[in-house]
Amino acid sequence: MTLRISVIGTNYLGATHAAGMAEFGHQVVGVDIDPARVATLAAGRSHIYEVGLEPLLARHTRSGRLRFTTDYAEIADWADVHFLGLGTPSAPDGSADLSQLHSAVDALAPLLTRPTLVVGKSTVPVGTALALQERLRVQAPIGDGVEVAWNPEFLREGFAVEDTLRPDRLVFGTQSARALEILEQVYAIPLTEATPVVRCDLATAELIKTAANAFLATKISFINAMAQMCQAAGGDVVLLADALGYDKRIGRDFLNAGLGFGGGCLPKDIRALAVRADELEVGVLSQLVEAVEAINDGQRNELAELAIEQLGGEVTGVRIAVLGAAFKPGTDDTRNSPALTVAERLHAAGAEVLIYDPQAKLPPRDNFVQVGSVEEAVAGAEIVLHLTEWPEFRYLDPHALGELAKNKIIIDGRLKLHAPSWRDAGWKVVQIGRAS
Ligand code: UGA
Repeated sequence: MTLRISVIGTNYLGATHAAGMAEFGHQVVGVDIDPARVATLAAGRSHIYEVGLEPLLARHTRSGRLRFTTDYAEIADWADVHFLGLGTPSAPDGSADLSQLHSAVDALAPLLTRPTLVVGKSTVPVGTALALQERLRVQAPIGDGVEVAWNPEFLREGFAVEDTLRPDRLVFGTQSARALEILEQVYAIPLTEATPVVRCDLATAELIKTAANAFLATKISFINAMAQMCQAAGGDVVLLADALGYDKRIGRDFLNAGLGFGGGCLPKDIRALAVRADELEVGVLSQLVEAVEAINDGQRNELAELAIEQLGGEVTGVRIAVLGAAFKPGTDDTRNSPALTVAERLHAAGAEVLIYDPQAKLPPRDNFVQVGSVEEAVAGAEIVLHLTEWPEFRYLDPHALGELAKNKIIIDGRLKLHAPSWRDAGWKVVQIGRAS
């Protein structure tokens, strides 16, 4: 059954969700307050680098199934269901800043004159869904006719379209049979493909999302702590992770040691979880999260210090090549990027930092120079840092780069380079927690 769906907020989450809903056959309108973004999306183009998103936008804006607008009046009483796909960045105290959700709800509510389902997709502190429902009901002419459900999103940047079209699970947090029925109609296609569904209350739905990100972050910090142990004891963390991964209860995913996690989600979501846990006096959870964060921050510090140590303790005026700026490969996103933290530390210590990334475009700033190729970054460098594991970096030619670099020293911050090939070409390869 074709539904009329609005998606409010059209950044990573909302733009992908809107395109995905159109692909499922629904009539979709994306709403955003940013007219430039709306114009780009309405022309079938994507404002972000995300594999497969632009073809989907192009196809469905052309077919007429997908539109974008800045005008809430176009969607308020038109849509059968409104999805909220807005950002929840960190407030200065680390809690989630809900102002985008509040503005959206405040713009929508006064226009609602018929019974409406509003479904949150954003990652929020537990309790937000009910508070938003109250905020909507107070302002909407239909009053208690507005109901909120929560349907968290688990998409990964770089795989956003794939994860939207073929989710590994769906979570429907609802308060009524009617809301559940609508969500089942929205997701009729993945449901026919036997996608697992968890049907639950609002609080559980909100918590599932933060728990998933916290667990992933914990896995990464655990393996990074083991990398420290391997480094101290002379073991190899990659082989250790492989062996752990063969245990189905553990799994190999998210056991890649290195610079740790960054991006627009994991760091802010676990911080907000810790703040909320403290508010609810669940100290054990905030303590766990703090340990995970401390390990993660430590990895960035340690890498910067290692680079300085390799250069004899003094980096003033020293040229350093940094490979990678995005927080992970497959995206142009540099939010909370471990690579950039390391680059900034080295710049602050006086180094001249040249960065290359295949996709990320850094805003012009005076602390480091972005160059257009690996060769430009490496030319004259006294050390090379491999900080974001773009697949193409694995296939670099260590012989050719050795001709360009001033010193043949490379720190592989992601443990992904084939060290023997680099060593054969005369490079000193430093990998924390890998036996050489
Ligand atoms: C993450 C979650 O994986 C998604 O399920 C979730 O929907 C999303 O946050 C969100 O909340 O919106 P994403 O931020 O795109 O997705 O990135 P991840 O693929 O989770 O990677 C996060 C960071 O962990 C990256 O910096 C990556 O380099 C690092 N990482 C990942 C490791 O250091 N080691 C690993 O083994 C895996």
